[in-house]
Amino acid sequence: MGKLDGRVVLITGAARGQGEQEARLFAEEGAKVVLADILDEQGSAVAKELGPDAAAYVHLDVGEEADWAAAVAAAAETFGSLDGLVNNAGILRCNQLTDTSRQEFAEVCRVNQLGAFLGMRAVTPGLAAAGGGTIVNTSSYAALAGMPFLTSYAASKAAVLAMTRVAALELAGRGIRVNAMCPGAVDTPMTDPAVLDPSADPSADPGRAAEAAAAAAAFYRKAVPLGRIGRPEEVARLALFLTADDSSYVTGQHFVVDGGWLAGVPLPVS
Ligand SMILES: NC(=O)c1ccc[n+]([C@@H]2O[C@H](COP(=O)([O-])OP(=O)(O)OC[C@H]3O[C@@H](n4cnc5c(N)ncnc54)[C@H](O)[C@@H]3O)[C@@H](O)[C@H]2O)c1
Repeated sequence: MGKLDGRVVLITGAARGQGEQEARLFAEEGAKVVLADILDEQGSAVAKELGPDAAAYVHLDVGEEADWAAAVAAAAETFGSLDGLVNNAGILRCNQLTDTSRQEFAEVCRVNQLGAFLGMRAVTPGLAAAGGGTIVNTSSYAALAGMPFLTSYAASKAAVLAMTRVAALELAGRGIRVNAMCPGAVDTPMTDPAVLDPSADPSADPGRAAEAAAAAAAFYRKAVPLGRIGRPEEVARLALFLTADDSSYVTGQHFVVDGGWLAGVPLPVS
């Protein structure tokens, strides 16, 4: 018996990173998974690997209302109903406050904040009709602690936490639980040191990319009590807990999965 037998769950940003691992784990646990993303080739390939009985891929730009309507309809058409959503899609832009353009701020909020709102709103009627369900929103440690260069990202992720609490209160009566995850640093394309430093071109200078990776690993060893960056599978297991009946009495909460980063100052202890 899987923890998600009989469930149909839509996961956004499922072509790679945490969303991909969530899709793989949920399918393993018996769910029918609708993988949604804008990276159509990668997303379709993951769905194909999981097989047509377990997974389907839909193109969904989370900031577009019409895409949400089509994705929810496709989920119902393919698997009969929809009773779970993981709002995972997100983008990161790193710039100091004074270097952040209005356009960049708006785009980060369009994907991370508006996307989560549109998703919760689009799936609610179906989840209620299915007799209840679950919504898991992906926030970030950046919603809980300040970090330079993250004005737009932190703002959008704090909004996700605020919406999670409001939605949980409004939807509890319809049997829908809404919770949020706050990952720390997780090893996905989003945190690739070569990508985080836009001045670096890894193909032009592989040595520099290796240097950046080593510097990042040294930083996590020092800053994170557990001494390393997280793995996307470790976030997927939290998403599973919040989607499965294991968390049947949990709603309106956020859960930090960060190797202890936010717990305090990791002074050396012998
Ligand atoms: N990696 C980290 O350290 C970290 C930490 C905290 C929170 N998060 C959050 O976790 C989530 C997953 O990120 P990840 O680390 O797997 O990064 P990632 O970049 O590997 O994956 C993000 C996915 O979202 C998709 N996406 C981007 N814009 C989209 C849009 N408009 N519509 C639909 N899909 C879109 C991308 O194509 C990609 O598949 C994000 O919400 C991110 O903000 C990540």
